[in-house]
Amino acid sequence: MALIESFVAEKDRALAEEFTARGYVIRPVDDRAALDQMRREVVGLVCEHLKIDRPGDPQDFLDHIERVVPVARLNDLRLAVYRAMNAKPWFRPTYFALARSVIEALVGNELAMQNKVNLSIQMPNDDSSLLDIHADVFGGETPYQVVMWLPLVDCHRTKSMFILPHDKTKAVTPRMSEVGDGGMAKLYAMVEKDLVWLDVPYGTALVFTPNCLHGNVLNRETATRWSMNCRFTGLFTPYTSPEKKIGSFYLPITTRAVSRIGMAYRPPGGFEE
Ligand SMILES: [Fe+2]
Repeated sequence: MALIESFVAEKDRALAEEFTARGYVIRPVDDRAALDQMRREVVGLVCEHLKIDRPGDPQDFLDHIERVVPVARLNDLRLAVYRAMNAKPWFRPTYFALARSVIEALVGNELAMQNKVNLSIQMPNDDSSLLDIHADVFGGETPYQVVMWLPLVDCHRTKSMFILPHDKTKAVTPRMSEVGDGGMAKLYAMVEKDLVWLDVPYGTALVFTPNCLHGNVLNRETATRWSMNCRFTGLFTPYTSPEKKIGSFYLPITTRAVSRIGMAYRPPGGFEE
């Protein structure tokens, strides 16, 4: 039959079902050449900061940054790369382009994007950059968002991050008061058996709802994690947090012509009251 029976394209429906059940999807990036070029830029900034020559193998270089940087200097390096990358006008558009198809299918095509892309570097056995189990909504974040998490090296097991799938998070959320004074360690113990340790190789992007419980632990692998993350939300969704407002924390990135016209519309004027 030539007629169409669903408003939703089949591939988008399958993606949405997977995302809704698990709370995350992992997909190859939309533009591998752009990812490779972006990673070369990061490596270039690292070498500039450290005043060393560019390496032949960027993945091996980043994986084993501990060979050239002591852990005490790591945060200075991270901040230097974070600031320099975020100052580049191509950085946020390129970052978005890497997972555009997934973000548009899951969130919409009129989007607002966090004003900065974050950078995490976690050396093996470095306990200075751990993120306890949490859901971002606990900290006042909008529930109408996804996080796009992008590895610059192959990330798996404790070198990656963990998430409690969406159905499991929804089941445990009403029981949160049982945690009591036990804090996040008690919560972690309650859900530990159901946590998924995400295998996110270089060349893929993870998109997840931070309404799901998630976090990381001490990196017990033999190589350093390098990952970036940034939030995306629908342009026309509620913005309830005073700090996480549209126009400052979130910036519109793909406003469509009809929305611009609609927002600029003024009723006819000049009439007497
Ligand atoms: Fe988070």
